[in-house]
Amino acid sequence: MLSEVLLVSAPGKVILHGEHAVVHGKVALAVSLNLRTFLQLEPHSNGKVGLHLPNIGVKRVWDVARLQLLDASFLGQGDITAPTPEQVEKLKEVACFPEDCAVTERLAVLTFLYLYLSICQKQRALPSLDIVVWSELPTGAGLGSSAAYSVCLAAALLTACEEIPNPLKDGDDVSRWTEQGLELINKWAFQGERVIHGNPSGVDNAVSTWGGALRYQQGKISPLKRPPALQILLTNTKVPRSTRALVAGVRARLVQFPEIVAPVLTSIDAISLECERVLGEMAAAPAPEQYLVLEELIDMNQHHLNALGVGHASLDQLCRVTMARGLHSKLTGAGGGGCGITLLKPGLERPEVEATKQALASCGFDCWETSVGGPGVSVHSAASLDGRVRQALGGL
Ligand code: MEV
Repeated sequence: MLSEVLLVSAPGKVILHGEHAVVHGKVALAVSLNLRTFLQLEPHSNGKVGLHLPNIGVKRVWDVARLQLLDASFLGQGDITAPTPEQVEKLKEVACFPEDCAVTERLAVLTFLYLYLSICQKQRALPSLDIVVWSELPTGAGLGSSAAYSVCLAAALLTACEEIPNPLKDGDDVSRWTEQGLELINKWAFQGERVIHGNPSGVDNAVSTWGGALRYQQGKISPLKRPPALQILLTNTKVPRSTRALVAGVRARLVQFPEIVAPVLTSIDAISLECERVLGEMAAAPAPEQYLVLEELIDMNQHHLNALGVGHASLDQLCRVTMARGLHSKLTGAGGGGCGITLLKPGLERPEVEATKQALASCGFDCWETSVGGPGVSVHSAASLDGRVRQALGGL
């Protein structure tokens, strides 16, 4: 077990195309966001394990000795396997949730306990440690906040337990793990996502692990050679929703109307492929017509997602408000509220962007301009903490 404090971060994501279809084996195109989740792991010898999640008001402490008793059901896993319902039931007992405990808190605590016990089970004794996780990402808005949480936990626990070497060398401000290390982080983060979402495709944790832009299909990850330099408006409708319920709803619709829904999924697949082709072309020889194609793809996909039943009145409003200014939007992530993206084409005048942001704010939405394609999970030196992290962790 390492004795030093670890500080890791991982990005959120937006799905350009392919949400929901990706759960059924189709292609998704996803890019990392320049909004991140940060985790600080501090080893101790006080016989306690602490979890502090200031964004959602969680502060919990367990006796290592108590968790050690439970450890038996996690021992001997060897392989990285999906969490079983029995394991999750045991974790619920140990977590001792109050009756009125919020779902977000339940899932965050269960995921932590699951990853802590599974990853640390190879240690002679379970380690004492304190973990603080803080995020710039809104929770449950479709921006991959749960995946960034699982990726940070997996990376920090695997490193602290010396399952993967700490890549940060003296004098480095920031560093990343080897490809092999990232593979292992991603595998464990996927199990964390399973605790939270039931049956996720794995695209969210893959983007958070590798960063940049990638094509994802059935667990196969292909980074785009040149991540697109797209500028987008990211809008949070603030309408809460559950990814798990929306994914289940699409599955139910597919079972009920296979002849109708399967072609919609196939069409979304074709949209993702066409988008990938155009992005490749843009990287090689940019031309204004390419943006017109990207805009048409956005409109078609938004209609398809509505046909799958994952639209929402707030997302329709987002599309109307931006369309009135000649801009094209679609939901991103699971839909049913949550977030949408609007493509900002080059040459757009500043007043037009500001007016659009103003119009969206007056609908009650949070809206911010961002670029995409930042680095995946990283480990930082304490000295390199920039203002945004120092402020958040320092004030805890
Ligand atoms: C959620 O960000 C994306 C979905 O496709 C679910 C998944 O891929 O697991 C809706």
